Amino acid sequence: MSKTKRNYTISTTFDVKYIYMTHPEAYKLLTKYLTDKKLLKHSLATEAAMKALYKRITPKEKYNKAEEEKWSIVGLLHDADYEITRGEPEKHGMRLIEKEHDTIPQDIAYAIQAHNYKYTKVNPKSLMDWAITTCDQLTGIIAACALLQPDRRIYLLTHEFVLGKFQDKSFAKGADRATILLCETTLGLKLEEFIKVVLGGMQIIGRELEL
Ligand SMILES: [Fe+2]
Repeated sequence: MSKTKRNYTISTTFDVKYIYMTHPEAYKLLTKYLTDKKLLKHSLATEAAMKALYKRITPKEKYNKAEEEKWSIVGLLHDADYEITRGEPEKHGMRLIEKEHDTIPQDIAYAIQAHNYKYTKVNPKSLMDWAITTCDQLTGIIAACALLQPDRRIYLLTHEFVLGKFQDKSFAKGADRATILLCETTLGLKLEEFIKVVLGGMQIIGRELEL
């Protein structure tokens, strides 16, 4: 059994192929495909955002460490095939799963495909799918806001500042604000709260993000 592939057959009335992936395995997979430092930092930022969102959305009695790790792996891997799908946006999210379908657990694979649903036509269904779809674009706006701070660092950045820049459509023009706003209907978080949670997650790993 390789370190990056663990298949277990669960004995039930029918056989279920269950693939489990650990965080170190996911990180190894990410660096197998991504080399660009900026993209790696974006992956770490989105991972931190997903972890923070899981903790914010999940009621305390339902908290599950394995589930938190799953959300964090989705954040880490969502853009892993970005460099190998340049110029083919409809393949982004799909190619990684084509190549690693027996390595990546099914629900993680689905969320990765769904985060680019406008191109892949794989529609987000679960909270995890919507969390990655909506926070992906926001991490970019937050990183750009951090660079505007006097010391170009994230630790003193406030959610009010980010909200102001979110409303300024000329700032970080490439960010899909309409998709970010879906946090309100799909995750049940008002935009301001959503920004607060994602920013808080990113601030924890500011040093790793070099922000
Ligand atoms: Fe992304």
